[in-house]
Amino acid sequence: MHPFNSKKKKKNCMLTINVHSDTTTVALSWLVFEVSMRPHIEAKIVAELMEVLNGRSVEELEYDDLKNLKYTECVIKESLRLHPSVPIFGRFVEKEIDCGSFKIPANTEVFVPTTLIHRLPEQWGNPDVFDPERFTPERSAGRHPFAFIPFSAGSRNCIGQVFALNVEKTLLAYLMYNFHFEVADPLRAVHLPAIVLHPKFGIQVVGRERLPGELQTLANLSKSSLSSFASSL
Ligand code: HEM
Repeated sequence: MHPFNSKKKKKNCMLTINVHSDTTTVALSWLVFEVSMRPHIEAKIVAELMEVLNGRSVEELEYDDLKNLKYTECVIKESLRLHPSVPIFGRFVEKEIDCGSFKIPANTEVFVPTTLIHRLPEQWGNPDVFDPERFTPERSAGRHPFAFIPFSAGSRNCIGQVFALNVEKTLLAYLMYNFHFEVADPLRAVHLPAIVLHPKFGIQVVGRERLPGELQTLANLSKSSLSSFASSL
């Protein structure tokens, strides 16, 4: 029989369904939390969205528009840096690996702590500061290729990463277009270390519908800082 039999297909489908929904949902929760705490970032996201929509409503956002939400992508990445949905993952080392100053013996289980790697001061400088523009090409240059690994790395990395970023962009665009959020209790946004990085008490935000003209006012506020972001790309 072909090695990819129906039992394996079923197992892989279940894996994809399981890892897809929880990781994407918690990523969105942390993202809304971070944006709601920072009105200047919210305004820039809105300015970019209004520019991309160019008079259309958010319901008319097309797949091809998503690649132009560049600032929004930086915000999503910065949120994934501080709150990686998968905070730690493991590998089994079959053959000895020489890491220079130390060796990992054969038959060892190794854990990769994404949450710690994402806050290494030598890679990120002021690692606890939420700064989406770390992800501009200019500021990313020279950074270690494995300093940012929310989707893991190597041959068993996340097969859904492009899809996940597009989902986050679409949902954030929809939410930012329609609502303004405020975090009810920032001190209760605490990591719950588990296989997926949930907020221990959930993320409680208070949302209200956008007022007439609010989107345009917000977009105008951030037009100039958005164009200096665009010129750094
Ligand atoms: C923000 C959202 C997501 C994050 C942060 C994320 C993160 C990850 C990470 C870190 C791994 C590797 C785990 C390991 O090495 O042990 C992984 C694996 C995987 N992810 Fe995602 N993921 C996300 C969304 C998705 C989506 C939307 C899908 C499917 C549509 C998906 C499908 C998978 C699958 C099938 C694997 C296993 C790959 C393999 O073992 O070869 N993920 N994901």
